[in-house]
Amino acid sequence: MSWFMFGALMLLFEGPLFICNTPSKDVAVWHRLKLVESAARRKNLLAFLGANATRKVPQAVIIGVRKGGTRALLEMLNLHPDVVVAKAEVHFFDWDENYQKGLDWYREQMPVSLPHQLTVEKTPGYFTTGKASGRIHGMSSSTRLLLIVRDPAERVISDYTQVLYNRKERHKRYQPVEEILIQNGKLNVEYKAIQRSRYDIHMATWLSLFPLHQIHLVDGDALIEDPLSQLQEVEQFLQLPPRIKASNFYFNQTKGFYCLLAAGHEKCLDQSKGRPHPPVHQSVLRQLCLYFREPNQNFFRMVGRTFNWC
Ligand code: A3P
Repeated sequence: MSWFMFGALMLLFEGPLFICNTPSKDVAVWHRLKLVESAARRKNLLAFLGANATRKVPQAVIIGVRKGGTRALLEMLNLHPDVVVAKAEVHFFDWDENYQKGLDWYREQMPVSLPHQLTVEKTPGYFTTGKASGRIHGMSSSTRLLLIVRDPAERVISDYTQVLYNRKERHKRYQPVEEILIQNGKLNVEYKAIQRSRYDIHMATWLSLFPLHQIHLVDGDALIEDPLSQLQEVEQFLQLPPRIKASNFYFNQTKGFYCLLAAGHEKCLDQSKGRPHPPVHQSVLRQLCLYFREPNQNFFRMVGRTFNWC
């Protein structure tokens, strides 16, 4: 197809925005695909890409942690032209009913990609599900893993906040956080959210199969303050050319977080991300911090770096 016909087609399908976006034929179509929401227009573009576009199982997986900033990381990584992402959490390696559907089913859940593009999936439940590491290793021992971590005490409160909002929405009863966290005067360490924050325990499982250099840690607290620095490290880890720029982010005063900017489109994460946490009694926070002190030190030793956690 000539460039003239290609241009005409793009104008027809995509309108004038395409004109300023012509690095190479397929890549340009791809840029448009990432932005197009309508199913009919997506189909036209996919038909145009034809045999060049296939679905691949992910070469990189964001394995967790839940409430660590996994959605923000995925959306930000998706700004990169050489990356395609599965928008929904696939839960292939952590849910038996999905795993039993087989690898072809998993591949089908991925977006189409061009040969040079990297497919990325995120399911935060993988990090804390014992079976997931072995299953990913079984798919490919060279899968690159991304783990975004955040102060584990803060993560517990974020985890509780998510459940709290869900219950409120469904007009269900909910317990104040102190009631869940403290039982018989002691920290309830069996609480699921606390167990999920035991990064040391879960990391040991992953490190028994994957070498540390194959697991990139993203600092979730830093991602909130300065997303570009974290994304540049991810680009390096994934051996991607540096394409994500400061101009891809702007601080949204109303949301209180960075939002994304690409090809003139603005996007903030939905309202379930970055919600205010309920106030938590200082003494409870102190107990949480005290509890995590030793596990955090273990985790720091395992990963060979420290984080500024309480
Ligand atoms: P809170 O809602 O507790 O503030 P996940 O996507 O893994 O569920 O993580 C949700 C967390 O992502 C939010 O937790 C929020 O702090 C964090 N986050 C990081 N960058 C963000 C951004 N740019 N917009 C909204 N939330 C962001």
